[in-house]
Amino acid sequence: MGSEGKYNEKTRVLVVGATGYIGKRIVRACIAEGHETYVLQRPEIGLDVEKVQLILSFKKLGARIVEASFADHQSLVSAVKLVDVVVSAMSGVHFRSHNILVQLKLVEAIKEAGNVKRFLPSEFGMDPPRMGHALPPGRETFDQKIEVRQAIEAAGIPYTYVVGACFAAYFAGNLSQMVTLLPPKKQVNIYGDGNVKVVFADEDDIAKYTAKTLNDPRTLNKTVNIRPPNNVLTQLELVQIWEKLTGNKLEKTNIAAKDFLANIEQMEIPHQAGIGHFYHIFYEGCLTDHDVGEDEEASSLYPEVKYRRMDDYLRMFL
Ligand SMILES: NC(=O)c1ccc[n+]([C@@H]2O[C@H](COP(=O)([O-])OP(=O)(O)OC[C@H]3O[C@@H](n4cnc5c(N)ncnc54)[C@H](OP(=O)(O)O)[C@@H]3O)[C@@H](O)[C@H]2O)c1
Repeated sequence: MGSEGKYNEKTRVLVVGATGYIGKRIVRACIAEGHETYVLQRPEIGLDVEKVQLILSFKKLGARIVEASFADHQSLVSAVKLVDVVVSAMSGVHFRSHNILVQLKLVEAIKEAGNVKRFLPSEFGMDPPRMGHALPPGRETFDQKIEVRQAIEAAGIPYTYVVGACFAAYFAGNLSQMVTLLPPKKQVNIYGDGNVKVVFADEDDIAKYTAKTLNDPRTLNKTVNIRPPNNVLTQLELVQIWEKLTGNKLEKTNIAAKDFLANIEQMEIPHQAGIGHFYHIFYEGCLTDHDVGEDEEASSLYPEVKYRRMDDYLRMFL
């Protein structure tokens, strides 16, 4: 796009789900990128002092606050009318809360407002159309994200879907162990032979790529994959990075797929969903079992982002 193009103009962006885990990073990345950034403030947050304080901190950084409720359609229409781009970072299906389908209300509002040039729904994970075979109940995440995509496309709303990487805080800091977010000290479970390629990304980098792609004409009506080449690692490679940093070898226990999935029905639903997601990522290799062209991969599209390597990321835990 030439220098006269829209790409280089200031874009007005509304972030929905702004106080959430990835949402707060997207707000800061949008401001850093120079976008005129709006943050949706829901009256429902009530006495949640952390959210209120976070919103005030965004204001201090230069964000504009827009009040709107998912229970009030017109308030959503008015909010989206203020901007060119809407980014949703609403929570996933089984973890923390269950609200991905609430986005259908946002789609309705964007459709009625008619001015939005791009909508990025809450994705940021495995690419739902590739997950048709996924295990229940975890597959609900993909089914619901597809339902949202179908509503967007049926309404003719221009979109970009950002997918493809494991959040480092959930998958790298713990060397991909479940039920902890810290590196194990003595023993580590290895999924299968530990040689399946996985993609890890620092959430701040995911936010930066999101802020860059949201007005990029190259990614209009496309899926953008986050697959930074140095962060495409097997679980064993990740463990070895940590062992090198600490100078300490961990005892490794290989878990066969059938043992990993055994007794899944007896677990709590969120845990079942987690097991399913780990299975698809670490045994099936769902993040890396397909090619992604340079024109659809974030680190190729935005080489100026010096993304964080996992050796640097893991240093935080020393
Ligand atoms: N790739 C990965 O490893 C990975 C890991 C985790 C999540 N994800 C994906 O990332 C996305 C965001 O997840 P997250 O963990 O960042 O979300 P989160 O922090 O759990 O929640 C994000 C926001 O959702 C909004 N929300 C929750 N309930 C709502 C309701 N009833 N009505 C309206 N808004 C509501 C809240 O927005 P307010 O700020 O307005 O309160 C909340 O801050 C999801 O699509 C998820 O699947 C990917």
